[in-house]
Order: sequence, then structure tokens, then C-alpha cells
Amino acid sequence: MAVLALFLLWKIRGKQSRFDRLPPGPAPNLLLGNLLQFNIKEAYKYYLELSEKYGSVATIWLANTPVVIISGYQALKETMIGLGEEFSGRAIYPLLMKSTYGYGVLSTSGHRWKEMRKFSLATLKNFGMGRRSIEERVKEEAENLVEMFKKCEGSAFSPADMLLNAVSNVICSIVFGQRFEFEDPQFKSLLRTVNTYFAILSSPLGQIYNIFPRLVSLFPGKHHELFKDLEEAREYCKCEAQARMNSLDPSSPQDFIEAFVLKIKEEKDNPKTEYNFDNLISVIWNLFSAGTETTSSTVRHALLLMMKHPDVQERVQREIDEVVGQDRWPSTEDRQNLPYTEAVIHEVQRHMDIAPIAVPHKMMCDTEYNGYVIPKDVMVFPLLSSVLKDPKLWKNPNCFDPENFLDADGRFQKNYAFVVFGMGKRACLGEALVRIELFIFFTSLLQHFTFKAMVPPVELDTTPTNCSFGRMPRTYECYAISRK
Ligand code: HEM
Repeated sequence: MAVLALFLLWKIRGKQSRFDRLPPGPAPNLLLGNLLQFNIKEAYKYYLELSEKYGSVATIWLANTPVVIISGYQALKETMIGLGEEFSGRAIYPLLMKSTYGYGVLSTSGHRWKEMRKFSLATLKNFGMGRRSIEERVKEEAENLVEMFKKCEGSAFSPADMLLNAVSNVICSIVFGQRFEFEDPQFKSLLRTVNTYFAILSSPLGQIYNIFPRLVSLFPGKHHELFKDLEEAREYCKCEAQARMNSLDPSSPQDFIEAFVLKIKEEKDNPKTEYNFDNLISVIWNLFSAGTETTSSTVRHALLLMMKHPDVQERVQREIDEVVGQDRWPSTEDRQNLPYTEAVIHEVQRHMDIAPIAVPHKMMCDTEYNGYVIPKDVMVFPLLSSVLKDPKLWKNPNCFDPENFLDADGRFQKNYAFVVFGMGKRACLGEALVRIELFIFFTSLLQHFTFKAMVPPVELDTTPTNCSFGRMPRTYECYAISRK
């Protein structure tokens, strides 16, 4: 008995000393940590309050797990960029693990992540990400989207699924080498899974699951359905990969999967290779899911903000009419001549603040920062919200105001505090694609339609539905009134 007591004491002491020099934070409860001290539906607001009270590095405890919150541009720059290697790990977030099992690019760390990130970036670029070739694909999808919206003229409709479909087809054409029809049952099922996945990730259920995965698994709920759908989505990715194993022409891989399969074949005699089926399936899922939901919900939110601010919508349309007119489709070359539109798109993203804590990181090794020591494997939340809503960095941080991205002469003005894609080594690897997609989809839609809500603008609610992992914007019904 005495030996057991001593052993426990030694264990507890060991744990304490490992965490002795963590940054300060509110006193945790022994069992639940700080969980009872905030509203889990809007956790990031509590993190913002902590940064005001404790400064740019603070610690909270989610049950018995410490999490270090980094806030403010300077501290994020010093950690995510200055100590980029140390802060480059990805936290083991149970819901992320459910879709990737520790493989792929988004939820891995160290050598595996580096290899997958390098390959993914290079291959996306080879297939046109950020270049003219992908712009043509985006334009085709934008033209289809406009046709679909036209069919809804005269009645109120929800644009959410059509936007999801159009945006997803862009990444699908890179990853799977094909686009899908709106009614394709396989595609519909994949999109439904992505949609539910993000909704649950950003909901209180997702938060609680990430803290107590085993316990929550014991209870019935939407998460079980999601896990089943995720397995089916993985199975689909696996079949696509296997089909290419036989059909691949090594001299000219046609899509991302083929390029990866080629690499698997090339490295088959390397026992340490990361090019295997497990990584391939998870990378496919990472690109497909990250490339679908975020961008489509940004366009959805942009249209909602246009309905809320008809004066802004009108000014964007005026600018498009003057520069592009009605006789041709917008192209990224028009971007430099559409400063107001560019400012609006950036402001939509800043205001939306879709990933308030980015995707949680973890420490790769014990690291000293600002006089504190953050031990290896400790979870880190880069609080992007603290930068995107910092009153010292933006004229009107809590309102939707395109002036935030315009200089005194009405020219588009970049702002270093625009950190919606994260900072440093783990920053979003799809940014170049997103920039093209947002511009082409938004300008094509506003060139053709005026969006009107079913209620007067003052009554429109533009706050997100869920605000945990992500701040997911609302779905809504609207009118798209043709401008021609
Ligand atoms: C509006 C659109 C998007 C936004 C706001 C966004 C934002 C982000 C953020 C905040 C992160 C995490 C950064 C961090 O961990 O510090 C991230 C990671 C990532 N994003 Fe995006 N993203 C968007 C679209 C896309 C697209 C279209 C793709 C696919 C081509 C993509 C692929 C990824 C991947 C693979 C990662 C993980 C990178 C890594 O762990 O190294 N994202 N994104």
C-alpha cells in the first residue's frame, strides 16, 4: 500500500514538474480543469479574454490536458515563424484522427508530415494550383454555377449545396482527375460527409468528443453516423487509389492520386518510405475535405454579407460593370483593376474568422518562450482571432468594413495581420487555389445576379452557427435576381 502511495505521489510530482514552467492561466479544477469556466459554444471568446488578462501566452486545462494559447500578432510571429520547427507539430485531436488515423498531411507531425506536405504542395502546383490552368477549371465551375442559379430565378432557394458542389469540383478535378455532376449519388454522399464532419467538428459535441473521446463514444449521437460515413468516404478513396494501381501510365500521371501511386511504385523497395496506401487515402481526404468546406462556406458567407450590406453589393457590381462589363467572364487578370472587390473578399474572410484557433498545433520538443517552458507534445492553440480582431491593427475590427483593405486613394492595401490561413510552416497549403476560387466565384456571381434576402437587411443574422473549432457560417434562403 505504502509503495503504491509513493508511486502515485512520484507520478503526480513528475507530472507537476513537467508542467511547472507553463505560462500562467486560471486555476484549474482537479478533474475538469477550466472546462466549467467558459461557454463551450464560444470557447474562442474565453481565450480572447484570457489573452487580455494573462498576456500573449496563457495556459488553460481542458480536463487534465494543458493547452497553451498564443495570441497577438507579435507572439504568433515569434512562435509560429521564429520558433517554427518547435511549434510545427499537430495536436492529436480525436476527431481529426477519426478521419485519418494519424496519416496524411493535416493531422501528422515530424518526418511524415514534412514528406506529405512537400509532396502535396509540389503536386498541387504541377496540376495547376495557383496557375492559369486551374483558373480555367474554376471558370467552368463558375459558369455552371451561374446556370444553376439562373434556374432558381423567381423563387427563394438555398445556395449552399450548389456552392459546395462547384467548389468541390475544382479540388476533385485535381485530386480525382474528374468533376462530378450535381446529382451523382457518390459525390452527394462525399459532400454530405464533409459537411457533417465540419458541422460536428465545430459544435459543442465535437469539442466534448475531443476532450473525452472514449466517454462520448459510449453515448448514442450524430457522431456515430459520422464515423460510419467517414469510413465509407475512406473506402471510396481507397477504391480510387486501387483502380489507378493497375491503370497508371507512369509517363504521364493524370491526377494527384496517380502521381502519388507512381511514387508508391518508385519507393517500393525503401522500407522507410512514407509513400503508402494509408498516407495516400488520408491525404486524399485532407485535400478533399479542407478544399471543399472552407472555400464554399466563405462564398456562402460573402453572399450573406452582400444581402446585409446592399450598398457594398452595389459598389462591387458597379466596379465589375466598369472593368469587366457583361460580355465576358471575369478573370484573375482583372483583379488589379478591381480594388474594391478585392477589399471586399479579404474583408469577408477577416470578418468571418473561420478558423479562430487555426488547427491545433503541438510542441515538437520542450521549448522556452518568454521565460516559460512549454513541454514536448503540449497542445497549442494559435489564436488567429486575436490578430484578425485586434483594434490596434484594424480600423473597425468587429464590423464588416471593406475600408480595412483600402488606402486613402481607394487602392487595395494588403495587411500583414490578415492571418486567416495561419502562419509559418503549417499555414494552409491551399491558399493559392483559394485566392483564385474566391475571386472567380464571387465576381462571376455578382456580375450576373443581385442577391436579396427574404427579410430586410437589418433583420439578417450574419453571426456563425457554430463557433468552436471553426466558426461555421449560416445557411439561408435567398433570391438571385438576374442583372441581364
Ligand atoms: C477559405 C479557404 C481556406 C481557409 C480559410 C483555410 C485555412 C486554413 C488554416 C487556418 C489552416 C491551419 C493552419 C495551422 O495549422 O496553423 C489550414 C491548413 C490546411 N489547409 Fe486550408 N484553408 C482554406 C482552404 C483550403 C484548400 C482549398 C485546401 C486544399 C487545397 C486546403 C488545405 C489545407 C491543408 C492540407 C492544411 C494542413 C496543412 C498542414 O498541416 O501542414 N485549405 N487551412
